[in-house]
Amino acid sequence: MAVLLLGPRSDPQLEAVEHELETRGVETVVWNADNWPGDGKLSFHQTNEDVRVAASDTVVDGSSVHTAYLRNFALNPRLSEYESQLENRPFSLLNQLREYQAVLESMLYDLQRRGVRMINPLESQDVHKRKPWQLSRLADAGVPVPETLTTTDPDAARAFVDRLEDVVYKPVSGGGHAAPVTAADLTADRLSLLTNAPVQFQERIDGDDLRIFVVNGEIVAAARIVADELDYRTTDHDVERIDHSTLDSDIADAAVQATDCLGLAFSGVDVVDGGDRFRVLEANPSPMFATFDEQAGTDVAGALADLLADRDVTPN
Ligand SMILES: Nc1ncnc2c1ncn2[C@@H]1O[C@H](COP(=O)(O)OP(=O)(O)O)[C@@H](O)[C@H]1O
Ligand SMILES: [Mg+2]
Repeated sequence: MAVLLLGPRSDPQLEAVEHELETRGVETVVWNADNWPGDGKLSFHQTNEDVRVAASDTVVDGSSVHTAYLRNFALNPRLSEYESQLENRPFSLLNQLREYQAVLESMLYDLQRRGVRMINPLESQDVHKRKPWQLSRLADAGVPVPETLTTTDPDAARAFVDRLEDVVYKPVSGGGHAAPVTAADLTADRLSLLTNAPVQFQERIDGDDLRIFVVNGEIVAAARIVADELDYRTTDHDVERIDHSTLDSDIADAAVQATDCLGLAFSGVDVVDGGDRFRVLEANPSPMFATFDEQAGTDVAGALADLLADRDVTPN
């Protein structure tokens, strides 16, 4: 039986896992999201006796595939490749991508129902787009999170910043960058923009940025990310590997707990470690790890491949 890999063929994570599975002698079936919308054929056929899922003319079911790695659907109109289409034919583009998403999600839910293990389960894929919901669940599970206010209310935002002083803000559904709140952000004009869209305000934690990878309840890699900017992705940054057996045990437990309470079998957890206190920012359901492995000399791809290959491991 094979492992299904869903994502753009050009995605380094997909390539790394495919390679690791091959070296383990595990057969793979790739649903190449680079081909959608486009030449990649998809068919989903129901009769009263039977249900058939096929991609690129290959039928996939619970007897040919035991596990699927859901890297990325890539059906996001905000991707740069859609820029001109978004300008020229926004409604039809949005509808087109929605239709593809509906077919793929239906197929995957069907496969999941027929016993195909999803890494990660479909229900848990959206937690990174619902940051406040994720924070509630982490806090409920006893995972320390930064105090956070998501609001459209200028007065509430100002009161939050006045009280906590050192505050960052970021998009509620991810996909942007975090930045420190400055005096210029607190003018009435600027704050009135909150009525356009809610923003997440969060207590700023001063400390080291840690990225911890958890696979099947175990930490498999960790690193400190060193950068001059608040959000390391806006600038050059170094990735310094940490021997994960030396991680503070409270931090290690919180990373595993965060992954577990969100129903994830694989995640990359963002932690800020201030020395005397730490906070978990998020657990990502489909983290990038290829560059991380390269820079830190870790083997997240191998650990993930081991999980994908072992059909007897039940995800949380
Ligand atoms: N409350 C915070 N305190 C300190 N640094 C933060 C805070 N929130 C975000 N950051 C920095 O910005 C990065 C991105 O924020 P994160 O919450 O992980 O959102 P994203 O979904 O964009 O990855 C973090 O990895 C961290 O470096
Ligand atoms: Mg993050």
